Amino acid sequence: MSHALQLPPGTDRTTLHASLHPQLKALLAGEPDLVAAMAQMAAAIHDTFGHHWVGFYRVVGEELVIGPYQGPLACARIPRGKGVCGAAWVQGGTLLVPDVDLFPGHIACSPHSRSELVVPVRDAQGTIVAVLDIDSSMRDAFSEQDAQAFERLCDLLTPLA
Ligand code: SME
Repeated sequence: MSHALQLPPGTDRTTLHASLHPQLKALLAGEPDLVAAMAQMAAAIHDTFGHHWVGFYRVVGEELVIGPYQGPLACARIPRGKGVCGAAWVQGGTLLVPDVDLFPGHIACSPHSRSELVVPVRDAQGTIVAVLDIDSSMRDAFSEQDAQAFERLCDLLTPLA
C-alpha cells in the first residue's frame, strides 16, 4: 500500500495501521538481522504514510547513531539527552511533538520538519537499544493512535535486538 503524499493531520489512519502491522509482521518473520528489519520497517512506514523522514537511531555508547532511514540527509550522531530523540531515550518513553519549534533543544536535521514522533525500541530485557524517529512537514501530524501503533510496530523488533 503506497501513499506518496502525506495525509493531512486528523486523517483516521486506523485502516492503514491495521494493514501495516500484519504486513510487517509477515515480512519480518524469520528475519534474524535487526538492521535489515529496521530498513524494511522504515521503508514500509515511509511508503504507507509518506512522512517527510522515517528512520532509526541506534544506541551506541552515550550516543544515538544513525541507522536505516528514508528521507533527506540527517545528522549521523545525537548525544544522549539531546534533541527529541535523545530526550525520548533518557526519559524512556515515546515523545509526540506537535510543534518542533516549541520543543527546547529540537535538532532540525531538515528545515521542513514541523512535528515529530519518537518511539523507543527495546530489547527483551526492556533496555532501549534504538529509537524510531518520524518527522512530518506538517504541524500536529501525529495522534496518540499513531504513537500506539508505532509502538506496536517497534515491539516487532524486540526479539531481534
Ligand atoms: N529532530 C531529531 C533529530 C533527528 S532528524 O530529525 C532526522 C531530534 O531533535 O532528536
